[in-house]
Amino acid sequence: DALEVLARVPDGALSFLYLLHPDPWPKARHAKRRMMNDGPLEMFAAKLKVGGEFRFGTDHPVYLRHALMVMQRHTEQFDWLCDSPADFQKRPGGWPETRYEAKARKLGHEVWYFRYRRK
Ligand SMILES: C[S@@+](CC[C@H](N)C(=O)[O-])C[C@H]1O[C@@H](n2cnc3c(N)ncnc32)[C@H](O)[C@@H]1O
Repeated sequence: DALEVLARVPDGALSFLYLLHPDPWPKARHAKRRMMNDGPLEMFAAKLKVGGEFRFGTDHPVYLRHALMVMQRHTEQFDWLCDSPADFQKRPGGWPETRYEAKARKLGHEVWYFRYRRK
C-alpha cells in the first residue's frame, strides 16, 4: 500500500510526488476508496517540501471532476500551476508516460495532467 510506505517518509522530504492513473472507483458509493481524498491529500502535503510538486494524471472524467473538487478543499496547501488554458492537456516536462497512459492514448482517450505546488 503506497500510503503505508509514504507514512514512513519524513515530513517535508519530497520534491515531487506523482499519482498517475489511480484506480477510479467510478461508483459514487466507492468514492471514499479513491486515492484523491482529504486523508491522502493531507499526507501528500506533509511529505512534500515547500515548493515541491504534487503531480496527478488521469484519463477518467468522473475521477477528474472528483479530483478537482477535492483539490478545491486544499487551496491553503497547494497552488495549481497552470499558465495557460491548454496546460492540463499537455504532458509537462519530466513527467513519465506510464503503461496505463500509453494504453489510454491508444484507445483514443484524452489524458489530463495537473501540477500543484506545495505552499
Ligand atoms: C490504473 S492502474 C495505473 C498503474 C500505473 N500507475 C500506470 O499509470 O501505468 C492503478 C494501479 O494502482 C494500484 N493501486 C491501487 N491502490 C493502491 C495503493 N493503495 N497502493 C499502491 N498501489 C495501489 C493498482 O494495483 C494498479 O496497479
